[in-house]
Amino acid sequence: MAESPWWHGGVLYQLYVRSWRDSNGDGYGDVRGIIERLDYLSWLGVDGIWLSPTMPSPDQDWGYDVSDYTGVHPELGTLDDLDALIAAAAERGIRVLLDLVPNHTSSAHPWFLDAVSARDAEHRDYYVWADPAPGGGPPNNWLDATGQPAWQWHAATGQYYLHNFLAGQPDLNWWLPSVHAEFREILRFWFDRGIAGFRIDVAHGLYKDAELRDNPPLPPGSSRLDGRFGLRPVYNANRPETHSVYREWRKIAGSYSPARLLLGETWTGDVGRLASYYGNDDELQLAFNFPFAFAGFEAPALTAVAAETTAALPPGACPVWTGSNHDIGRFPTRWCAGDERKIRLALLVLATLPGTMVLYYGDEIGMTDVDVPAALRRDSMTLSGNNPQGNRDRARTPMRWDDSPSGGFTAEGVVPWLPLGNPLQPNLTGPSVARQRDDPGSTLWLCRRLLELRRAELGGGIPRLEILSAEPHLWVYRVGRLVVAANFSGRPAGMPAAAGEVLLTTSGEEPGTDGRRGAALGPWQGVVARQSG
Ligand code: GLC
Repeated sequence: MAESPWWHGGVLYQLYVRSWRDSNGDGYGDVRGIIERLDYLSWLGVDGIWLSPTMPSPDQDWGYDVSDYTGVHPELGTLDDLDALIAAAAERGIRVLLDLVPNHTSSAHPWFLDAVSARDAEHRDYYVWADPAPGGGPPNNWLDATGQPAWQWHAATGQYYLHNFLAGQPDLNWWLPSVHAEFREILRFWFDRGIAGFRIDVAHGLYKDAELRDNPPLPPGSSRLDGRFGLRPVYNANRPETHSVYREWRKIAGSYSPARLLLGETWTGDVGRLASYYGNDDELQLAFNFPFAFAGFEAPALTAVAAETTAALPPGACPVWTGSNHDIGRFPTRWCAGDERKIRLALLVLATLPGTMVLYYGDEIGMTDVDVPAALRRDSMTLSGNNPQGNRDRARTPMRWDDSPSGGFTAEGVVPWLPLGNPLQPNLTGPSVARQRDDPGSTLWLCRRLLELRRAELGGGIPRLEILSAEPHLWVYRVGRLVVAANFSGRPAGMPAAAGEVLLTTSGEEPGTDGRRGAALGPWQGVVARQSG
């Protein structure tokens, strides 16, 4: 029998490089800083790390505007540093994934600099150019990520170019075979260096409607996954042709041993469409499940998405469970409002669902969003205030390693690129690794034990998720030999008698008893039990 890929039952740790550990005292986290703290990740028990963008960039969107796809951003390190990280991580059984941005480049990329030089420039068609609409103005009604027209007028060559994000992030033209060829080379460049795979930025983007048709209006009451600024992005996202790119890349990923991983940022509210990105086991191996991340922290909502997802995915496909990232914010805030009981319960649920779990740095200690004062914010995409994502800096603040003023993130006296906390609320220091590592009852220890349990019980395959009960405040499911019971309320809840031997609880305490009904879960308590046989 073929061995299961490492991500089946595995845990990926999203590491926002600029905010994790600064090794050279310039206020920015860096690749050497990751190497310094690899032992922590190994102690925690993660299988792989996904590094937020590491490639050279003018940083209008903090690395999501790439100016060189085969380099390392000088502020973060060098290619040698990255090679050293791959090797040091491999010694600890940790794989390294990079963030790949194929939907757009930076306007400082040499391809774009050439494209704007003349209408007949060699790289002109690498980008999406269009003439003004018949009556003048932008070619269609598409809007960018800030709600402004997605078209930038280029006076010197008399055409508009498309940017679905900032004007400094021109969209690539995936109808052009040379763009495919360039990215095939980029994939091989990194796979040859030992990169275990890519998280693919805006994986649902790439192709745009060839006729550039107007997007239809967004029906009232739609979720933010369905559209924004009053439009449904029918013609500039989730186009059917995009699947051809992943079929091409999957062949490349599969030609390596072990196979390289393609994990897509698949922004869709429709689990059927999410499933389509797995293809017939010939496209992405993993696709982010945003409907789950955006579900309310309530048993019925989470149960419904989990059940729909596992039903929609093709047989053998591996679901992805996550609650936080650098765009949507941290689940300890969004789901749990900082309540540690809820944070622990969320970790328990994320760690016991079958498939791949993605932790965002700091989730393991229950780090919450930071209310970064406006004057210290660095994310230009959300500075305008009307962005539906809110301010993204809140979830990008430095990792808190210890309780010193620098948080152990950078050298004492150095001003970090984003504040560790709101300077106006100096008493709200939040959790730290050092404090929790000394306390076996901490969230960090709970997370570590959950990952250990996950490895032992859910590794090497995708067990079926069987929902045993989804009452308004209680979610009980079976996965492999495990029975998980989660009480989503501030009151005690009955626990199924047949759950089996209790292996772990979020509160460290055994479930109590509730009169005739038998075992009872405490408020916001979660339990993992194992059935014998
Ligand atoms: C993705 C990234 C986000 C970035 C955008 C444009 O959504 O996660 O941070 O701003 O793509 O690249």
